[in-house]
Amino acid sequence: MPESKNKTPRIAIGITGSSGAVYAMDFIKRYPYDKFLIMSKWGKAVMKDELKMPDPEKKLKPLVNKIFADTDLTAPLASGTNELDAFVIIPATTSTIGKIASGIGDTLITRTAAVCMKERYKMVICVRETPLSTITLEQCALLSREGVIIMPISPPLYFVPKTVDEYVKGFTDKVLQHCGVKTGTGWRAEELE
Ligand SMILES: Cc1cc2nc3c(=O)[nH]c(=O)nc-3n(C[C@H](O)[C@H](O)[C@H](O)COP(=O)(O)O)c2cc1C
Repeated sequence: MPESKNKTPRIAIGITGSSGAVYAMDFIKRYPYDKFLIMSKWGKAVMKDELKMPDPEKKLKPLVNKIFADTDLTAPLASGTNELDAFVIIPATTSTIGKIASGIGDTLITRTAAVCMKERYKMVICVRETPLSTITLEQCALLSREGVIIMPISPPLYFVPKTVDEYVKGFTDKVLQHCGVKTGTGWRAEELE
């Protein structure tokens, strides 16, 4: 976790319109520090559909410090003067990745990403699409070279999950780890004690 002026770690979370809303929900529930949420229009639509959640804002409001509208470019996240420990986009669409890789910042999610890139704040992009086009692969490579952590939503199976929740957790554990949260589920971790 990079050194921050804030006492409590502070992250922004972006939800975009990819399949995999369940990963966003699990990550939000389990990230223990300050968290500010932005949902794209299609992020909300997929949440409604996949999680049978008629009003995602109402459901998520109690789980985060604040929700900002993706259309609100006056929000504090749109400025590099407000330091962030990380920005996690989960799940991330190829459309949002394309915009970020091109330097477009016309929504709060893409603007926050542009801020994180210029300020060198940590950014984690959990891309969900398959197969991936050469364009997206090249855009991911470009972002990776800029220091962005590209995490395709690809849960491990070596812990042999027995439920969907366990399967989802296998992936969100790794995202939490990248945000400085210890999850305590390393492979044969006891052998390192
Ligand atoms: C039900 C549904 C599922 C989708 N799943 C994906 C997906 O897994 N990956 C992806 O890149 N786009 C997916 N899309 C397309 C994006 O939502 C679409 O490109 C949208 O414009 C993205 O906008 P956003 O990045 O601002 O959320 C899906 C759309 C719908 C309606």
